[in-house]
Amino acid sequence: MLRRVLMKDIYHHPIVQKYVRRSGMAHAIAVGHYVFDLALEYNVNPDWAVKAGFLHDIGHYDWSDHGGWNYQLYRECDIHPIKGAERAHKLLVRLGEDQVAAKEISHAVLLHTDSVLPKGSYELSHLQKVVHLADERDKEPGDGHHYRSISRHWEERLIHELDLKISSSLSDFA
Ligand SMILES: [Fe+2]
Ligand SMILES: [Fe+2]
Repeated sequence: MLRRVLMKDIYHHPIVQKYVRRSGMAHAIAVGHYVFDLALEYNVNPDWAVKAGFLHDIGHYDWSDHGGWNYQLYRECDIHPIKGAERAHKLLVRLGEDQVAAKEISHAVLLHTDSVLPKGSYELSHLQKVVHLADERDKEPGDGHHYRSISRHWEERLIHELDLKISSSLSDFA
């Protein structure tokens, strides 16, 4: 299967450097790696899963207030899954992503947390589920996952690894 957009293209885009870095580049990359393994387990397209996993928190606002994070305001007013779904979709379409892929990835970003869902029971698709599970897997107490950082060189290396892993596994989804 031909990949129209690589993780490398997404990683280097200025919008990603601005917004994904704001919510934690190391977290986004770690979720990308966790979700790759989960995608194989759940028989989900790994290219879509990794893109959604990497972009899942792209919608975060900056809730810092007087030098610290205003958690109360964040909990009351945050809509990062909604903002992120729109932002990820726009970015992917601009990069030339397949329109169906862009929609599915955007939906998985929207549903990575249940904060936008009404109370009650609902069923996630496997793609949506693996992105949620990968995010949960990387969470740290006190939201530490948003503040973890690694060197740029290491970031680029891990992104390259994701591209290699996705390309070599995609023959199963041709
Ligand atoms: Fe999130
Ligand atoms: Fe997250």
